[in-house]
Amino acid sequence: MVYKINNLQEYQREYAASVENPEAFWAKQAERFQWKKKWDCVLDWNFSEPDVKWFFGGKLNITENCLDRHLLNKGDKIAFYWEPNDSAEARRSITYRELHTEVCKFSNVLKSLGVKKGERICIYMPMIPEVVVAVLACARVGAIHSVVFAGFSASSLSDRINDAKADLVITSDGSFRGNKTIAIKDIVDEALENSPGVKNVVVYKRTSQPVTMKPGRDLWWNELIEKASPEHEAEPVESEDPLFILYTSGSTGKPKGVVHTTAGYMVFAEYSFTNVFQCNEDSIYWSTADIGWITGHSYIVYGPLLAGVTSVLFEGIPTYPNPGRFWDVVDKYRVTHFYTAPTAIRALMACGLEYVTPYKLDSLQVLGSVGEPINEEAWHWYDDHVGKNKCPIVDTWWQTETGGILISPLAGITKTKPSYATLPLPGVQPVIVDSEGNELKGNNVEGNLCIKFPWPSIIRTTYGDHERCRQTYFSTYKNLYFTGDGCRRDEDGYYRILGRVDDVINVSGHRMGTAEVENAINEDETVIESAVVGFPHDIKGQGIYAFVICEDPELDHETVRQSVLATVTRIIGPIAKPDKIQVVRGLPKTRSGKIMRRILRKVAEGDVSNLGDISTLLDPGVVEEIKKGALVPLKG
Ligand code: WTA
Repeated sequence: MVYKINNLQEYQREYAASVENPEAFWAKQAERFQWKKKWDCVLDWNFSEPDVKWFFGGKLNITENCLDRHLLNKGDKIAFYWEPNDSAEARRSITYRELHTEVCKFSNVLKSLGVKKGERICIYMPMIPEVVVAVLACARVGAIHSVVFAGFSASSLSDRINDAKADLVITSDGSFRGNKTIAIKDIVDEALENSPGVKNVVVYKRTSQPVTMKPGRDLWWNELIEKASPEHEAEPVESEDPLFILYTSGSTGKPKGVVHTTAGYMVFAEYSFTNVFQCNEDSIYWSTADIGWITGHSYIVYGPLLAGVTSVLFEGIPTYPNPGRFWDVVDKYRVTHFYTAPTAIRALMACGLEYVTPYKLDSLQVLGSVGEPINEEAWHWYDDHVGKNKCPIVDTWWQTETGGILISPLAGITKTKPSYATLPLPGVQPVIVDSEGNELKGNNVEGNLCIKFPWPSIIRTTYGDHERCRQTYFSTYKNLYFTGDGCRRDEDGYYRILGRVDDVINVSGHRMGTAEVENAINEDETVIESAVVGFPHDIKGQGIYAFVICEDPELDHETVRQSVLATVTRIIGPIAKPDKIQVVRGLPKTRSGKIMRRILRKVAEGDVSNLGDISTLLDPGVVEEIKKGALVPLKG
């Protein structure tokens, strides 16, 4: 068994071995790491409860594998180059040894605040080196981190803090994003009005804007760390102890806390990173994701550090100070491996080539895509203008719940095909099923994507509600993990992800539940009821189309729109703002009160040529009214 696959034959051999004897395969991969105690049992699992245990009985600390393990040979290697939002500000670089020291110091800070193993800590921070320090220090003391994307509203933050029962919040005074300065600490203060369980808030000084520090609760990072010792012995944790919680949207209810545990996640994050990206000793890797998403966890923090690679960490946004920023950063650091989302590619494509051609981009070797299906036009633009037709594109399919990349080309090894995630990684056994759950064998089939065997970083539970985990992922089809995605396997056995088949929409690579957006809209004082669907959007992949019934039917529509936008921003955050808001008098409901969403989807897509059977509607007349008021040109 090899660690880094070098060619297609090796991939095929490894894949076969991983299916034949998964335990032997993963045990071999796990041996590379530092263990405080070796595991007793490689794998124990069932998908009915579900109960999955990898490397059971082992003890370790993931940060020893990210940091301590590299000190001897790579201590002076750069772990991160940090590129600030404003390129005129001094950039920073941090070596593995320096990162180790900072993490040890902050671990001691956490200990001094009384943090115990298993305690939940919420991190709400901008993209600065300290967010990595905070994440790793939590892991080092055995606490469970829950990072919340710093674009979420106070109300979303508070919900996540309460669900995880976090005692401590780590944040900053403010953050710089493009030409905006965001008052992060004020948002935390507002959130904490509804989260009385939080005992302490540690605040990193980033913008030096004025903030209110609540005595006895709020403490400055910068002061605490000055006094902290740089020596810290990592806390041993069990293989199956939770490493983190990350909230993600589903088709129903509030976002759920996806729980990942330590050893399996570690092994798979490193294995997938190494094999998909194929970095070497001199690579400069850059993922443009935010730490608040799973890509930030697995492929900014854990994967690259476990592999001992040098990365770029970027605070800003792709369009500031202009849409050439990504390419400027690539040239500046001579980035070799670049990983971004299709929505960013499409947005930059729309800005024109004049922002790309001034840059050399000759350091690039591998390009990656993640988060949503990449359309062929964007794929070719990326290939032609960024990769100059010499960089393989790895279209990586995975999910918050999968912890790591499951289906993707291995850079330079798997032949790519635009819009195809291509082939499963070793250890990953995808199946495509029809709506009854029958496996569709062979090639040229289309259906729902499931995985039939556990891989090491599979979701273990949803925090505080195991039944929800079972219901959502393991109950649709017996003995299968259901991804929620539609998928096609073509004549070459290549996988193409077709998008969600449930009520989850993917807006600019951000996952959102339509029910979640509806709940937020319904909080608006002008609205009685709403229904939300996704529609194809040139840049965002999917846009949000909301149909709303108003309290006062005479109210001016622009007033309603502004009010709804403000409410959604307040309750979820700006990422959930609907692109289109149509005021309607009624929604197409069946006699049992269910909204017939397919009709609304058709209207939002502008294609009403075939609405199917609408005779079961309580009032078929509402369909005509909705069609008349549609905010897109309708065909059919
Ligand atoms: C979608 C992001 C097509 C998919 C890592 C999945 C993709 C959801 C791809 C998970 C891809 C992610 N091609 N679709 N390469 N990558 N998706 O949890 O619908 O934010 O179910 O994880 O994004 O989104 P999440």
